[in-house]
Order: sequence, then C-alpha cells, then structure tokens
Amino acid sequence: MPESPYLVINPERVRDNYRALHAVLPAARIRFAVKASPVPEIIRVLDEEGAQFDVASIGEIEQCLGLGVAADRLCYGNPIKKAADIARAYALGVRRYAFDTEDDLLRIVEHAPGSEVECRFLSAAPESTTPFGTKFGCTPGEAFRLLVRARDLGLIVAGPYFHVGSQQTDPTAWRIGIEQAGRISNALADKDIAVTSVNIGGGLPISYVDAAPGVGEIAAVIDAAVAEFLPATAGLVVEPGRALVGSAGVIHAEVVGVRIAPDGRRWVYLDIGRYNGMAETENEYIAYRFVTERDGDPVDEAIVAGPTCDGDDVLYQRTRVLLPTTLRAGDRVQILDTGAYTASYSSVSFNGFPPLTVHVSGAERE
Ligand SMILES: Cc1ncc(COP(=O)(O)O)c(C=O)c1O
Repeated sequence: MPESPYLVINPERVRDNYRALHAVLPAARIRFAVKASPVPEIIRVLDEEGAQFDVASIGEIEQCLGLGVAADRLCYGNPIKKAADIARAYALGVRRYAFDTEDDLLRIVEHAPGSEVECRFLSAAPESTTPFGTKFGCTPGEAFRLLVRARDLGLIVAGPYFHVGSQQTDPTAWRIGIEQAGRISNALADKDIAVTSVNIGGGLPISYVDAAPGVGEIAAVIDAAVAEFLPATAGLVVEPGRALVGSAGVIHAEVVGVRIAPDGRRWVYLDIGRYNGMAETENEYIAYRFVTERDGDPVDEAIVAGPTCDGDDVLYQRTRVLLPTTLRAGDRVQILDTGAYTASYSSVSFNGFPPLTVHVSGAERE
C-alpha cells in the first residue's frame, strides 16, 4: 500500500464524465481546464475523446504538447500572461488566446499575430461556491470594444467568454451570462464581426456533502438560453475542470491524532490538510465527504485539521462534520470526489510535507 496521503485517479471515470457531458451538450466543444488535474493519463483520455484543452501557463502547454496533444487543440485561456509567455506559446504553435484587458490584447497582437481570441467579461451571474470575485473579466461594453479592436488589429475574433465561478450551483447563472454574451455578439454583428464561438466557461458543479444540480439540468438551461440569445453563427465552447475530474478521484489519508481541546471540542488531525491537497477547504467552501473504517460506530461532531503547524491548516470548524467517536490515530480515512483541485494545488512542501502523490491504475505519478 502506498504511503498516506495519496490520491487515486480513475481516468475511465473521466472518460465517462466527458461522454455524459457531450451527450447533454452535443453541439458544444468541450475544453478541459487542465489546472483541475494535470494528470497525464487524464489528458491522454480526453485527447482520445476529442477534447480541447484550456491551458494557463507555458508549463501546461508544454505538458499537453509533450503528451502528443495537437497545438490547435489548446487555448491559452489565462488572461494574466507575460509578453514572453505569449511569444513562447506562439512559437509552440498555440493560436488561440483569451484576454480581458487592452494591454493583454496588444501583447497578443504583437507576439501572436493573426491568432484567434476570446474576450472574457465579468458576467452578472450569482456568486458560486468558490468564486473568482472580480479578479477576471472586463465589462460587457469593454468586451465589445476590445473585440472590435482585435479584429481591426488583425486578430480573428472567436467571441465573448465568461466563467460563472467554480462549483456554480445555480443554473440561471449560465442563462444570465449567455444573455450578456448574446448582446455582445449582436453588437459585433453590427460591426460585421460574426462571432464563431461563445465560451461559457467552466463552473459545472458536482455533488459533495451538498447535492448539486446535474449536468442535464444545467444543459437544458444552457440550450434554452443559446436558442433565445445567441446568433446562429455562434458555436459553443464549455470549459469544465471539476465536472470532468472531480468524481474520478479519492484521497486516501490517515488519522494522525485525536484530541479534546480545553473547550471540550474534539479535534481530528489528518495527514492531509490545506497545504497538501485540501486547498478548496479554504473558507470551508467545499464540504467533502469522509469515509472511515469505523463508519457504523456512534458519531459525534469533530473539527477536522491538517498536519502542519499552521493555525489556518484547519479543514472544517464551522461546517458540521460527524465522525465516529471511536476514531483514533492510524485509522484510514477516504475523502471522496477529490479528483479536482487537490493534487494540482499541492505543489509546495510547506512545513516539509511533500506534495500529494497521485496514483493512476496502480502506476505512481508525482
Ligand atoms: C479560465 C478557466 N476556465 C475553466 C476553469 C474550470 O472551472 P471549473 O473547474 O469550475 O469547471 C477555470 C478554473 O479555475 C478557469 O480558470
């Protein structure tokens, strides 16, 4: 048995998730957000299925190309990029970029001439479970202006782009974004720019402790909004990370110790915490499900914490977590649906704890 903690990924589950999404959104191009789980076997499976890839850095571009993904399947979707990174991406064959500022647009014009571009606007969608806040996206009016400017500067306009925030559990978020994208597209048509694709981003949720709407329900909302608001020329791009890989992973962890604090509350310390895989427990955004070998014994509330000396390395202290009262050091704990944003966030060795190890079908990967 590998040393705990580790993540086990099932790439065939990713394939199933891809096919399920394709079945409900057959007209959409599915672009996997590599950052969610840059595991080579996942990239290979999705490449076989015909996916595109949203890449956020030269590292992800090189990784995909190294695995044999064709450059024309990549979109450099991070709006924050240095001129040198754009030039390098262009030299590597990447011809599709997203941007949200005039500065970045001008860098693309200079270093990736003639490329295809999407402009990310900040949609008016409700906040998601793990929101981006206002870090990305210009106003819809600015997106229109910048896409006209992109055309005038010799770039190929793909269309507007929005992301409703990760783990978005309100399907109307997509309707709101698509309506806004439709208005931008219609204004572009008046400038003789035919939008070829609207990127409706990621954000598709999965069920953790709290059940989330299924992809079928969200796809129905998307379909209706596309029919109502988008011009017929506009294809659709959907850019999921979590929805493809989240359910394909299980973290195997171990109880390091159990303690009753001076205030009487029970703390359960695991060998995995905020810094070696459980980053999305920040603000207790994502409430993961735990399975222990003592399930069936009486349960009581527990504060669940990670192994480092950091006071913030606490997974849950407001979220009500019930764990067996018999739990003790050395017990194995599984954390379900941890295929997205776990190992990929765990890239430093804070406190000397190594990054989370990933196992795929018995083969170990770092
Ligand atoms: C540009 C971009 N696209 C897509 C995604 C995927 O989002 P999700 O995992 O919520 O589907 C992200 C996530 O951070 C992103 O930054």
